[in-house]
Amino acid sequence: MVKAFAPGKCILFGEHAVVYGHPAVAVAIDSGVEVELTESDSWTIEGMPFHSEKHPHISHILNDVFEYGGRPLKIAIESGLFSAAGLGSSAALSNAMGAAVLRMMDANAELDSIKLARIGHAAEAKAQFGRASPTDTATSALGGCVVVSGEQVEGTEHIFDATLHTPEGERKWSVCQVDLPSDLDAWLVLGFTGIGSPTGEMVAGVAKLLEEDPSKHQEMDSIAMITQAGLTALGAGNLEGVGMAMDACHEKLQNIGVSSPELDALVEAVRPHSIGAKLTGAGGGGCMVALTKFPQRVAEAIEVAGGTPLISRLGADGVRILS
Ligand code: PMV
Repeated sequence: MVKAFAPGKCILFGEHAVVYGHPAVAVAIDSGVEVELTESDSWTIEGMPFHSEKHPHISHILNDVFEYGGRPLKIAIESGLFSAAGLGSSAALSNAMGAAVLRMMDANAELDSIKLARIGHAAEAKAQFGRASPTDTATSALGGCVVVSGEQVEGTEHIFDATLHTPEGERKWSVCQVDLPSDLDAWLVLGFTGIGSPTGEMVAGVAKLLEEDPSKHQEMDSIAMITQAGLTALGAGNLEGVGMAMDACHEKLQNIGVSSPELDALVEAVRPHSIGAKLTGAGGGGCMVALTKFPQRVAEAIEVAGGTPLISRLGADGVRILS
């Protein structure tokens, strides 16, 4: 039996602008997805017969990547993430599955997080018709704080380049990491609206808005500037600066139409107890995130306002084998 875990992620700055080559900053969160593989007499997943066409990520990893030819597997999955909420649950599943299969096939295999990030990205792309940024898979595999951009951002450490052949041509990203100060005295509290976040639809909506009103490109440039300021503040442990950048980022995301009344309500509800707050991910639904020194109070405020809270440290460890 092999058990592996990979964390989810939260985008602190740069969502949507990253689609246009600007940087995005994401951190791994404490919650994630656990995959347990046990050799068995028949292929099952979650106690049901396993049909590969229903699980494109998993079958890609088993068949295309590892060419698994061993005994049938009983696949058990446990997720601590809200799904379709912008927390990278499918990337975490791909990474945990990749790590578990690797260890199942070779008990002495070293976990290479860059290799797993690449495998996870390819699995995501396969499941999403060729379109997937490496943000979720890289953050979940590497852990900590990850910066994904068209080109390397100053003050970050370059980890690897990711390329993908998409229906629109080849796309390339630089995946970098930033060391977070170890003594950051603050927590992230995510608040789920209970409504799914349709990433593809939201990205398409922004593209339409920019086409109809090119002056909105200024909002993207502003998000890029805020992202840089937030990243500098984060690296220096300047929590007030990070919070100000989060608040400013939320306003810009509202201006490009990706917030929602539910997200705005949760953001407003946490402000009295937070250093900064914003929607996170594609928007339209999904989650908001607050930076705070009072995580329990923020969690209560989210609950009172109708959301579901999830408390995390900033920058958890990446993919790992549990047993
Ligand atoms: O899927 P989400 O909610 O984590 O959002 C992804 C971030 C976007 O910038 C909106 C899309 C992308 O591909 O980077």
